[in-house]
Amino acid sequence: MKIMEKNIVVIEGDGIGPEVTRQSVKVLNAIADQFGHTFHYKHCLMGADAIDKTGNPLPDETIEACLNSDAILFGAIGHPKYDNDPTAKVRPEQGLLKLRKSLQLFANIRPVTTYPSLAHLSPLKTKNIEGVDFIIFRELTGGIYFGKKEVNEEKTQASDDCVYTREEIERVTHLAFQYAQQRRKKLTLVDKANVLETSRLWRKVVQDIAPQYAEVTVDFLFVDNAAMQIILNPKQFDVVLTENMFGDIISDEASVITGSLGLLPSASIGKGAALFEPIHGSYPQAAGKDIANPLGSILSAAMLLDHLALAREAALVREAVEWTLLNGFVTKDIDPINFYFTSTIGELISEYVANRIPGGINKANIELRKSTII
Ligand code: IPM
Ligand code: MG
Repeated sequence: MKIMEKNIVVIEGDGIGPEVTRQSVKVLNAIADQFGHTFHYKHCLMGADAIDKTGNPLPDETIEACLNSDAILFGAIGHPKYDNDPTAKVRPEQGLLKLRKSLQLFANIRPVTTYPSLAHLSPLKTKNIEGVDFIIFRELTGGIYFGKKEVNEEKTQASDDCVYTREEIERVTHLAFQYAQQRRKKLTLVDKANVLETSRLWRKVVQDIAPQYAEVTVDFLFVDNAAMQIILNPKQFDVVLTENMFGDIISDEASVITGSLGLLPSASIGKGAALFEPIHGSYPQAAGKDIANPLGSILSAAMLLDHLALAREAALVREAVEWTLLNGFVTKDIDPINFYFTSTIGELISEYVANRIPGGINKANIELRKSTII
């Protein structure tokens, strides 16, 4: 068995970020104990928290630490005081965008998996979501997010350029094809090639690369149609590849299929260290209450383990997560009456990983940490 020593940067971030990320660290520690690995953590700042403490949404030390790490575990970003103030010069989100650019995290990977025990939470009919299993590849460091931004002096006209180079499209496309090859061998490019020049470049590049992955079937969907198909018939998708802003939008849309936004993980990978974060936001209303769902973060930690080539460890974390769901150990977003606290779920998953469940666990102790609302 290979023993590993890894440096992990932990950025707890804003809102519920700290409390969910702490559960993942517990789980990673349980994995390290169980398998003999050593994980060194370095805590860094980003987002509204970093602005409050340093005036800067992404201090240089954070970039430096991330560049020197093996992986980054990130919580959430954003605070309502900035959302409602379009004139704010410094915004928490600038920190995340700058980090993506600094680390060249060009691919954001969001798996959309359904859990049978949660099917009733989905707004879609159970028969339409059974067996849904696809993965969105969103380009993350180009497009309209990073193009030239202008506003005239009178502030009556503004523009955001959408720019893509062939090279930027190629690198994420190769990655998406490689995943498709390992999966059900279908890749769907989502674009707006009937209107946008950048989308026509995307189609051309994907068509040029496709022959290198002959077993993979490729199809193309305009983004407006894709938005509809994701709801009408999500089972048709395997790997969905798209540009930055379309990916931002359709990945939030796809997250509702599963019934709980709190459950979905993501990985942002590039040339160096990769970053792992739940797809949910900072959910400020729940911050500090120990009620947020930590599974999105814990499943992101599983993706982190996979990225470090610790596949058995990652599989054990996923097994533990499924065990909690099947046994009704769930947070308030999933069961508003009989719910367990964020920290309890983190402890249970760690216990499972440490092999102290289901036999050795004291169920009465778990019950004590249950909500008292009836
Ligand atoms: C995401 C978020 C970010 C984005 C924000 C926080 C800048 O919505 O990761 O999807 O738009 O990329
Ligand atoms: Mg988003």
